[in-house]
Amino acid sequence: MTASPAGRASSAPLMGREAEPTLFEISVPGRRAYQLRTTDVPARPLTELVPAAHLAEAPVPIAEVSERDLVAHVTRLSHRQFSVDLGMYPLGSCTMKYNPKFCDAVAADPGLASVHPAAPAALTQGWLQILVELEERLCAVTGMAAATLQPAAGAAGELTGLLLMRAYHESRGDVRRRVIIPDSAHGTNPASVTLGGYEVTTVPSNDRGLVDLEALRGVLGPDVAGIMLTNPNTLGLFEEEIVEIAAAVHEVGGLLYYDGANLNAILGVVRPGDMGFDIVHMNLHKTFATPHGGGGPGAGPVAVAAHLVDFLPGPRAVREGAGYAWATPARSIGRVHGWHGNALVLARALAYIHVHGAEGLTRVAQHAVLNANWLRRRLAAILPAAHDRACMHECTLRATPLKDAYGVRALDVAKALLEEGFHAPTVYFPLIVDEALMFEPTETESPQTLEALAQAIERIAERAASDPEGLHRAPQTTPVARVDEARAARHLVATADAARP
Ligand SMILES: Cc1ncc(COP(=O)(O)O)c(C=O)c1O
Repeated sequence: MTASPAGRASSAPLMGREAEPTLFEISVPGRRAYQLRTTDVPARPLTELVPAAHLAEAPVPIAEVSERDLVAHVTRLSHRQFSVDLGMYPLGSCTMKYNPKFCDAVAADPGLASVHPAAPAALTQGWLQILVELEERLCAVTGMAAATLQPAAGAAGELTGLLLMRAYHESRGDVRRRVIIPDSAHGTNPASVTLGGYEVTTVPSNDRGLVDLEALRGVLGPDVAGIMLTNPNTLGLFEEEIVEIAAAVHEVGGLLYYDGANLNAILGVVRPGDMGFDIVHMNLHKTFATPHGGGGPGAGPVAVAAHLVDFLPGPRAVREGAGYAWATPARSIGRVHGWHGNALVLARALAYIHVHGAEGLTRVAQHAVLNANWLRRRLAAILPAAHDRACMHECTLRATPLKDAYGVRALDVAKALLEEGFHAPTVYFPLIVDEALMFEPTETESPQTLEALAQAIERIAERAASDPEGLHRAPQTTPVARVDEARAARHLVATADAARP
């Protein structure tokens, strides 16, 4: 594992406030990034190739720039960004950790990257071996029987899992209507339940931040298809009564779905299958390399216990004799992604698993938990924990004391952290915590970086006492100052300025 540089992760020198001209503003008619050589293939009118109904009436305006200007433009823009490669990104629940560069090298290997997904199995045995070996390792980590590697992200895995749940119950002639979700759950959980055709029943957390077992028993019944849980939960706390929860849900014929977004907290220590879960999704882009977010591809494989294997999406790469082949399970729910999922993300994950080995993966979890607990204790005097007990890989803290004393809220603290050269933690999530600031330092940060973050928060607390108004205006040193976040969501402008030449 590579630690980020010690001390303040300052990106400030790169972050001027001057407006960067757009590519359209530096466009010069006739300028090209590259020229194709002249060809002796006779040109055919476009209307012969594309039906007239599908042709645009006027050419789409594109910026005309040289390759030099284009590269300078995107390089300048990249220097105005904050990224996992630049500094600490403690965005709780999202696991924005530094990703080792060897995974990039594997994914860029032309032997993997240039293979066409429709190439027959006989010509792509190496790729099939990668998929089979990854599936086997993911099953070993989760304690499951088999997995689909197709889903493109965590949320896509959730929907796949709910469709599997439905297929299982329907195959038994059992029509069920509700899925239970705790009130601390990630927003994708209820969305997936609704997309999967079920109704959400919310179960409250108790004063320890865990599923209230008695309340759960109260909402269980023969119409419950299952429960979706993440363990550790989205407060960063381990559900200590998971065995009792599993027994209660199984008792009414329901299934347990494990939202594996927080799998990095328990890797190699405990397995969802041993806790009683039937279906598990994993966010490979959180736990096993591949940066999360930024619009890049992810992967959300779904692993299942033996009684659900027949319903998995297909085709799956399987062992056949001494080689590998494609096979679709007997009662498959069908495809959930074109071809074989985001294959290069899958290759990255296998590379990450191989390089760390079983012991290394366990250390990933141990260090992630250690870092979060260190931070929780170090910040306790300023930002008390929502629940005063050991956390797992993330800690949910409260800015309530700063709000009560100076009117400085969680949002102000998060924005001021940007001025300090750190990415903000997750704010106001989970919804059940007042003035929540959720920090997930991840295992990749060094003690020096954690201490630098703590000192930055101490400086912010001092500013809260001396200049609370200034904190309401933070950040002032970043390319974009405080934005009206509600307005951005309500008045979405998704296109470039069409009036530009
Ligand atoms: C607990 C939890 N569940 C599900 C998801 C959804 O994962 P994805 O963003 O890959 O769709 C996330 C994402 O951060 C999460 O934190």
